[in-house]
Amino acid sequence: MIRNLALVALLATASTVSFAEGDVTKGDPAKGQTLVMEKTCLACHGADGNSPASAFPNLAGQGPAYITKQLTNFKAGTRKDPNMDPIVPLVEPEDIPHLAAWLSQQRPAGIPAIQASDEQIVRGRNLWRAGDAAKGVPACAACHGPSGAGLDAQYPKLSGQYPEYTEKQLQLFRNGERTNDPEGMMRAIAERLSDKDIKAVSAYAAGLR
Ligand code: HEC
Ligand code: HEC
Repeated sequence: MIRNLALVALLATASTVSFAEGDVTKGDPAKGQTLVMEKTCLACHGADGNSPASAFPNLAGQGPAYITKQLTNFKAGTRKDPNMDPIVPLVEPEDIPHLAAWLSQQRPAGIPAIQASDEQIVRGRNLWRAGDAAKGVPACAACHGPSGAGLDAQYPKLSGQYPEYTEKQLQLFRNGERTNDPEGMMRAIAERLSDKDIKAVSAYAAGLR
């Protein structure tokens, strides 16, 4: 119960968390387009941020402030990944707003049809819209938006994301291997989700539009 209250308090303060990650309005998308090629991002994320494989997250249409924060975190080593770690040293701090501008303005191309059972869809939808009060899980929609488009600067878009990637992130948050979520917001939620919950909600979020 106390933990649930703590999460409610977290929800209430979530919008006041500050993200001093640089001015996201300064990016030049044309420069970003060139940088995506020069810095080899396209090999994994596609030239327009539509990644060719589920191992690589889609970046097309993701919020520019969120992209900026992740690149800044990878550079600082507060988020780690064996694929991204060798690349981020090539990215200069002044490249980041341009990359964020280009990628955020690209149109998501869509992902292959989601395979999910009726049971998974119902569980995923419930978690998304209402959360699970008994487990102390808040509704994903409260922070990621009803349609998964993301909210404000800090809550990433999850709709149209490869479900495999979403699943992996929820597992990393749950294991405490991804720790760059402000105030442990996502870790507090992921640790209350079962493997089944993670699969169901990842599939559901992927199919939102
Ligand atoms: C060798 C493949 C590879 C290359 C090249 C690469 N990335 Fe990534 N990128 C990944 C993988 C894999 C992840 C997901 C890491 C994880 O699972 O936590 C990722 C994650 C990201 C994320 C975080 C996405 C999210 O939803 O949190 C951003 C932003 C990003 N990459 C931008 C870039 C940019 C910009 C470049 C070029 C400078 C680049 N990447 C080059 C493989 C790559
Ligand atoms: C209290 C607000 C809040 C709630 C509720 C919430 N999230 Fe999040 N979530 C965040 C924030 C903030 C981040 C960005 C963390 C960062 O800056 O790296 C995030 C990031 C994520 C990511 C990583 C996305 C990426 O591109 O790497 C996933 C996946 C995710 N959330 C899934 C969920 C799911 C599923 C639920 C519901 C069970 C949920 N979230 C509920 C705040 C929330």
